[in-house]
Amino acid sequence: MFLDNVSSDNWLADKASLFELAPAKINLALHVTGQRADGYHLLESIVTFADTGDRLAFSDADADDFSVSGRFASLLPTSAEGRHGNLVLKARDILRKALEDKGVSTTPVAIHLEKNLPVAAGIGGGSADAAAALRGLMRFWNASLPDAELAMLCLSLGADVPMCLRGEPLMARGIGEDLTALPGLPSLALVLGNPLVGVSTPDIFRRLTQKDNPPIGELDSDWIGFLRTLRNDLEPPARSLVREIDQISSLIGAEGTMLTRMSGSGATCFGIFPSFEASEKAVESLNGQKPEWYFQAVRTVGQG
Ligand code: C5P
Repeated sequence: MFLDNVSSDNWLADKASLFELAPAKINLALHVTGQRADGYHLLESIVTFADTGDRLAFSDADADDFSVSGRFASLLPTSAEGRHGNLVLKARDILRKALEDKGVSTTPVAIHLEKNLPVAAGIGGGSADAAAALRGLMRFWNASLPDAELAMLCLSLGADVPMCLRGEPLMARGIGEDLTALPGLPSLALVLGNPLVGVSTPDIFRRLTQKDNPPIGELDSDWIGFLRTLRNDLEPPARSLVREIDQISSLIGAEGTMLTRMSGSGATCFGIFPSFEASEKAVESLNGQKPEWYFQAVRTVGQG
């Protein structure tokens, strides 16, 4: 079933028994420090999560079902099949198999995804949805997996899924699976902006010429000052591929950010603002200038 232009709030309230947020993931810094023999790149990334994102709802059903609503619903595949199959369904199937292999039975489930985040945007998207599906289904089926097995299962869905499962400020290393909590990272007021040009992550990595960049190094408690010294190494190749990144980054920066960067492999850029009120005002102004693009004020999880 595919629902577009449906008031998902009503749908969710009427039918669902359990909800899960799939928060936008933001790479505050992303250094590419090497490449593995299998082609995956080694990273060091300071990652945090927004207080908004996609929403998933789970309810009892006679047979498995999947429906989608929200601004970006029409851009999603609705089957699990193939390399570009829907990650929510892949997550459901892989978790069910892992549980059934252990003799844990699972019931049919209707999953509804409210797709509020732009797709192929560098802010988690599919990975956040997959992680939220895993969290939600474990609650729905009242089941769990050992941490190490769950981590492997996440990684098999994508390099960003383990971090999205945690949903807290993190330092990510390896290809993104080696995670350390950053409990000192403060809650930040951000504006997310995306020109609604989808970016293919493998394309951006392929365009990267310098792969052995300096690591992030010692953390500093002056977070904004520290982040200013860091980079997103995927930003130059993404800017060369998607011209709108220059423009959206300048527009956000002109609203009075303390720092402006790109997240992940783009094209979403973010600005850090001194207050949430300032980020809301910036979004109003940006929507006036580029009504066809995506702008969202968010608070990130973290201290304060
Ligand atoms: O793991 P995921 O499917 O999200 O990654 C998409 C693609 O991005 C990979 O197939 C790979 O080409 C590239 N990638 C990479 N190094 C990473 C993560 C992703 O080269 N650490």
